[in-house]
Amino acid sequence: MEQCLLNKQIILGVTGGIAAYKSADLVRRLRDAGAVVRVVMTENAKQFITPLTMQAVSGNPVHDDLFDLQAEAAMGHIELGKWADVILIAPASADCMARLLRGEANDLLTTLCLVTSAPIALAPAMNQGMWKNTATQENAQALRAKGIHIFGPGEGSQACGDTGYGRMLEPVELVDAVAALFQTGSLSGKRVIITAGPTHEAIDPVRFITNASSGKMGYAIAEAAIAAGAHVTLISGPVSIATPSHVIKMAVTTAQDMFDAVMSRIAECDIFFSVAAVGDYRCRTVATQKIAKTAASVTLELERNPDIVAGVGALVKRPFIVGFAAETENVLVNARKKLMNKKLDMIVANEVAVGMGGDDNAVTVLWGEQQVEFAKMAKQKLARKLIELVGDAIA
Ligand code: PMT
Repeated sequence: MEQCLLNKQIILGVTGGIAAYKSADLVRRLRDAGAVVRVVMTENAKQFITPLTMQAVSGNPVHDDLFDLQAEAAMGHIELGKWADVILIAPASADCMARLLRGEANDLLTTLCLVTSAPIALAPAMNQGMWKNTATQENAQALRAKGIHIFGPGEGSQACGDTGYGRMLEPVELVDAVAALFQTGSLSGKRVIITAGPTHEAIDPVRFITNASSGKMGYAIAEAAIAAGAHVTLISGPVSIATPSHVIKMAVTTAQDMFDAVMSRIAECDIFFSVAAVGDYRCRTVATQKIAKTAASVTLELERNPDIVAGVGALVKRPFIVGFAAETENVLVNARKKLMNKKLDMIVANEVAVGMGGDDNAVTVLWGEQQVEFAKMAKQKLARKLIELVGDAIA
């Protein structure tokens, strides 16, 4: 994918944050991929990494002042904004996100973002509490709605000692994410959300209700969608398989978690694949202590979980929706009912015995009056065929 960056003109904005130390490596990798990079630093960024370092790695003078006469004589801020094929801000602080959303132009970087007609991408990096804060979450959502790409943040341990979401994605991941903006494929630039895997519904602190979904089908679709040029968010129940590169993964446990995660992102989604085997029921009450083996029998009272894909189907502004149906009998009849009742655009019907858990699957895809069968094959191969089919259906 990196070849997409050949001769691309990239403005790398650097704002104040400890992750700025990774920005130098990011510049090097962007240049290795063939891009021409000009660095724009905020005043706070210079507390973390020197302009001299960024100048040395980029091979171009660093831009840091909106009112620098010399810089304006060489390449003024308006030309700089027009020069860019993409503006990537990495790290993007919470403050920078808030200022961008408000359309402020009180430093060179925010001014460029107003001037440019190129795509803008942010790689947020901040303390996990700051990222989780509703103000930041709302800003991120509003920025996405304006068409600004948000890469990450990733999860893990942070410089401050906390653990959680807020780490800037690694330079290699950011290079791929930027390259994907220039990729041309059947889903080029489309924003795809995929649910995958099972859910766990707690009975007590050590037991839960689940199913045999491995996540393989959903993860294979994520990989195929990335290869077709899509930006992919994978909302996954608990699985033990590796996350494909370049996807943004949101790990969830229960059906309610999955519902909340989907709804938090669905406004910025073009295609929704509901591959997860979602638990239809959860315990009405979850025991706070481990249920002891004293009674001869135990009765669990179950209540309905929300139906995620039907919830998406009921939205006024909805993406193209691809549901799956895992059936043990009357596969096509039941699948067609789900297609209608859940207001889906397309449904992929498979037999539980064939598709669930293993490496292969055989499916029948139904949409409108059409129907196509795919004989048993590896889930990766099948995923590529399904992506092709969806690409054609939305073209
Ligand atoms: O994960 P693997 O081991 O690779 O297996 C793949 C698979 C068999 C799980 C996959 O191919 C598949 O069929 N997924 C859908 C499984 C399922 O739960 O089907 P369903 O018929 O119960 O649900 C129909 C649709 O509604 C599905 O798109 C499902 O994601 C969705 N649903 C169901 C219940 C619910 N509460 N919310 C939902 O969104």
